[in-house]
Amino acid sequence: MEDKIGILGIGYVGLPLAVFFCKKYQVVAFDTNKSRINELKKGHDRNKQIKKGKLNSKNLLFTFSEAQLKKCNIYIITVPTPIFKNKTPDLRYISKASKLAARLLSPKDIVVYESTVYPGATEEFCVPILEKISGFKSNKDFFVGYSPERINVGDNKNRIDNVSKIISGSNNKTLDKLYSLYKSVLSSKIYKVSSIKVAEACKITENIQRDVNIALINELAIVFNNLNIDTNEVLNAASTKWNFNKYQPGLVGGHCIGVDPYYLVHKSKSHGFKPEIISSARKLNEKMPGKICEFVKYKAKQHGLYPRSCSVLILGASFKENVKDIRNSKSIDLFKKLSLIFNYVEIYDPIAEAHNKTQNTTISTEINKKMKFDIIILSVAHDIFSKINPITLITKKGFVYDIKSFYKRHPKIYRL
Ligand SMILES: NC(=O)c1ccc[n+]([C@@H]2O[C@H](COP(=O)([O-])OP(=O)(O)OC[C@H]3O[C@@H](n4cnc5c(N)ncnc54)[C@H](O)[C@@H]3O)[C@@H](O)[C@H]2O)c1
Repeated sequence: MEDKIGILGIGYVGLPLAVFFCKKYQVVAFDTNKSRINELKKGHDRNKQIKKGKLNSKNLLFTFSEAQLKKCNIYIITVPTPIFKNKTPDLRYISKASKLAARLLSPKDIVVYESTVYPGATEEFCVPILEKISGFKSNKDFFVGYSPERINVGDNKNRIDNVSKIISGSNNKTLDKLYSLYKSVLSSKIYKVSSIKVAEACKITENIQRDVNIALINELAIVFNNLNIDTNEVLNAASTKWNFNKYQPGLVGGHCIGVDPYYLVHKSKSHGFKPEIISSARKLNEKMPGKICEFVKYKAKQHGLYPRSCSVLILGASFKENVKDIRNSKSIDLFKKLSLIFNYVEIYDPIAEAHNKTQNTTISTEINKKMKFDIIILSVAHDIFSKINPITLITKKGFVYDIKSFYKRHPKIYRL
């Protein structure tokens, strides 16, 4: 039988997968968000990842109707895995998608999870849902796989078709089947691991390593700021050593690095161990908007500026450079913290989504060139900001605080 693939969740991860698989297979791209599906049917990807011409394949069906998924035999789940306010895993999306897959299951079908989860989630949380609702038995009537996604939105160099893809399966036959399935559409290396847990742990390890390393550099940046040492210059000098890994200080937000470590912390705690380094790295990265606020307030004082009469412009609202995604953006946290101290705070981002009121923040898409600001903070290194000379936008007593060391050195530009 020809494989027919159903992808559940057509967001940043699901859409590129659908586009790759439809080169060879019939793909049903299902999402519960009707407006997203209607846009995709018209050839419009609001995330600007996929061009219009690639969305009109005859093998690719966009739908919000469950019935259209019925004839699929492979289901790939790419729904969000956020956290609750108390930083514990919110598995409601993955639970709902698993229930849907379970209702659709036929004998020999395979369900593959690509959403980021803690090790054990697929087999301990998802499989019981699949079994309970379908009435089938895993590894007898249906099979399961896990393949973490490494997509890096805004990065055109490391793409789904040129970075290695990890795959795992509930038994060897499933692993081999998934190997040939992914291999048939991706030119990248497909890397088999021995168990689903290893594949889940691999993804979370990649993101934790990044979070912890950035936290370390953020901590050093706080220390060096207090000692009046230029962190960037230190990092450049240290990078001349063969085994120094260069990371930059900055804000860690988004829905991956700023979220996934909590999944492992939660899982580990349930097994009696609270990971210290991972937890404190997370705490430190969460604290950064507050720390930056303190530094800026201190510099304002040195410049003879009084917060209650100061105007501040933040450059960048999205969670990282050159993307529009503002979910869990620490620039927005920074905006909120600064707004409690300074008279006027504006956040400018011509790329970020939802230019209107989002998270109680108005993101402006144009700079009022007639207005001068006392303080400008570069918080996201969008390429487009290289066209701005922030010095021309500040008042006489004003200064620039460049979190990303984006602008050339200048006596009025401070760096984190
Ligand atoms: N975006 C990234 O850079 C990235 C990278 C690697 C891994 N991941 C992980 O992949 C997963 C998906 O992330 P994303 O960025 O694509 O999220 P996203 O929010 O862009 O897309 C998820 C989509 O799933 C849909 N959805 C929610 N519940 C559904 C359901 N029950 N059935 C069908 N569709 C449903 C949503 O409407 C949304 O369109 C997450 O676990 C994330 O951590 C994301």
